[in-house]
Amino acid sequence: HVNQKNLQQQKGGVAVSSIQPPAQAIWWNQPLDRVEGTWIGIALVWSLIMFFMMPFWHVYGKQNLSNEAYHTTPEAYTAKTQAMIDQYTVRTETDLQIPVVAPPPGSDVYLLGRLWQWFPILELQEGQTYRLHISSTDWQHGFSLQPVNINTQILPGYEMVLTITPDTVGAQTIICNEYCGIGHHTMTGKIYVTEGRP
Ligand code: CUA
Repeated sequence: HVNQKNLQQQKGGVAVSSIQPPAQAIWWNQPLDRVEGTWIGIALVWSLIMFFMMPFWHVYGKQNLSNEAYHTTPEAYTAKTQAMIDQYTVRTETDLQIPVVAPPPGSDVYLLGRLWQWFPILELQEGQTYRLHISSTDWQHGFSLQPVNINTQILPGYEMVLTITPDTVGAQTIICNEYCGIGHHTMTGKIYVTEGRP
């Protein structure tokens, strides 16, 4: 209390600290400290710079995706995914018999997220363009493709469409980067990229 009194006398006002309750109940009528005002100003200017950098990064940095989004339902999306699986499955993997699906280049390919897997495994050709549809049938998930670091939020009822042209042969790993429950850490998937056939 002695310190607080000294401070009050020095500044000619009422001291406010973060560890003691405010001396005055109506603390928000007190004038803003110059240091605090400066920090609010810096934060505002920086947030505006970052805001206007977003279109720049989109065009020149190739960081932000040009995705499309459509309304769907879990039932309708599951049906479209199953139709692709029925037509283009080339083999199954693991004890769970997860279908590996190789749709023709240029086609629409479907991936669904659910508790707790990405389904099915897609096999795409290098240098070919696909429209990759992604949706969830139950919950919010985070599609994160590694190591290329493509990220997008996946929600039930919304169908995200990314136009992609794989340029790296090999297995790409999909992880879920939005916490979705007790099996979140096991929610992985795969996209294979094979060498394009001439
Ligand atoms: Cu799905 Cu975390």
